[in-house]
Amino acid sequence: MNSDSSELAELQQLAKTRQNIVEAITLHFAAEDQGLRHALTAAKQAGLPQIQISPIQGTLLQLLAAACNAQKILEIGSLGGYSGIWLARALTANGHFITLEINPTHAALVRNAFAQAGVSDRAEVRVGNALNLLPHLESEAPFDLIFIDADKSPYPQYLDWALRLSRPGSIIVADNTIRSGKGFEEPQDEGMAGIVAFNNRIASDPRLISLDLAMDDDYTDGFAISVVRQ
Ligand code: DHB
Ligand code: MG
Repeated sequence: MNSDSSELAELQQLAKTRQNIVEAITLHFAAEDQGLRHALTAAKQAGLPQIQISPIQGTLLQLLAAACNAQKILEIGSLGGYSGIWLARALTANGHFITLEINPTHAALVRNAFAQAGVSDRAEVRVGNALNLLPHLESEAPFDLIFIDADKSPYPQYLDWALRLSRPGSIIVADNTIRSGKGFEEPQDEGMAGIVAFNNRIASDPRLISLDLAMDDDYTDGFAISVVRQ
């Protein structure tokens, strides 16, 4: 083998190792049940994009919810309800989960997914543009955990609302803040401009301690995790 092909073999071996690690962690810590699988199947059948969080990310959301003793959780952007099921299941007794969804057809699908997963008693879908719905949540704040996973250009505005609707010790998580490194470069479109501004904000806001964690899509994307300082 020449050096190019041995380097290629080494890279392929590393990629395989990373894939095996993700599979092993998923098997040990993040197994899906019928309810989660139903949400995935229903979303796929309805033609929604297959861009939901991974089972590992779902478990991380549950871990973070437990860490802040979450009784009230807010999600911005429901997609097919998959992340919502993970989050609603992490609530303490009498907890409440609210997810904001702009698309009424998707919202109906999400309600059905919640029913199938047995979380309808604590999980609520509110339909509309999040920036219009968020001001109405002030009377229900503070939320212990806020998960942002919606359209990307308003991420900085969603962060403003998350800070407004949280308390010291609340955890703010945002999906897709890495984007193969584009989350830290000069933005080429409005969506990336939102993500880059979001990353700059959470890295420098003295009210937060934050970290972008590369953990999804073969470590090319992931969550931003921020804790509101005491
Ligand atoms: C996109 C959005 C997401 O929330 C995601 O997790 C992956 C991709 C997108 O808009 O392309
Ligand atoms: Mg996402």
